[in-house]
Amino acid sequence: MIGRNDPCWCGSGKKYKKCHLQSDSVKFNKPATHEYKNKMIKTPEEIAGMRRAGAFNGELMDYIRPYIKAGISTEEINTLVHDYTVKHGHTPASLGYHNFPKSVCTSINDVVCHGIPSEKAVLKEGDIVNIDVTTIVDGLHGDSSETFLIGEVPEDACNLVKIAARAMLKGVEAVGPGKHLRIIAQTIQPFVESGGCSVVHQYTGHGVGRKFHEHFTVCHHITPDCENITLLPGMTFTIEPMINLGNYKVITDSKDHWTVRTKDGSLSAQFEHTLLITETGVEALTRTPSQIASGTLLNLPFEE
Ligand code: MF3
Ligand code: CO
Ligand code: CO
Repeated sequence: MIGRNDPCWCGSGKKYKKCHLQSDSVKFNKPATHEYKNKMIKTPEEIAGMRRAGAFNGELMDYIRPYIKAGISTEEINTLVHDYTVKHGHTPASLGYHNFPKSVCTSINDVVCHGIPSEKAVLKEGDIVNIDVTTIVDGLHGDSSETFLIGEVPEDACNLVKIAARAMLKGVEAVGPGKHLRIIAQTIQPFVESGGCSVVHQYTGHGVGRKFHEHFTVCHHITPDCENITLLPGMTFTIEPMINLGNYKVITDSKDHWTVRTKDGSLSAQFEHTLLITETGVEALTRTPSQIASGTLLNLPFEE
């Protein structure tokens, strides 16, 4: 617990009592309302469905992994993801979501998120690429992503990917029943900044269930806008910090209105899992079969 005379969590350098203490006590000490619980806590049937959706999304990630190599186009990756999903009787959530044109997001190098697969985008040695897959299984969503290294990549890129992976993992380790939503940002941001990288503000994690993006917003950066939510058993949401090698600012492509790039052109990396808060802790619903076998939440392309 932060003391009155400790430095404020927002990084202003002021004492907590002179900075956010007052606004926090108004915002964070209100009891949860009935409506808040109804909106965000899944029924046992929904939880069973979320487990199935997460498991399929994980299988899909393991399926696509060996294809993510130099020479493949992101359009070919899209076709593989789409066909595997449909063949198993499920639906790619991205396709047509707010008119997104493809079944997977493929974000290369300085693309932060929402990269659109294209025949022209061919992976080459030295690239980093995030593959973000989301599937609808019997009406419920599984959402996860990984950043892959293509062949030998420069040391700074490799380091960025490691920090992004560990940032997601630290966020997962920090949550559990009774923890405040704000613990995610408070864990991730200092870790990322101590590695010389930055946390994107403009895109966040999110509640997930019958809808792709539902109540609530999961900020990975420290902000007074963080919602007043105590995590409770039955809540399902993502942790998916986007980490930049340079500045946190991003810009959206003015032609396709989707592709989000770092403003300064620096590299960006991301890992994502869909999570369930349980009575005793947290379950990563989108763990892949290979992650389950190895007892991890990540398939890192390098030795830890
Ligand atoms: N999968 C992304 C997320 O993690 C959202 C992609 S929206 C899309 O929230 F339309 F671009 F697919
Ligand atoms: Co997501
Ligand atoms: Co996603």
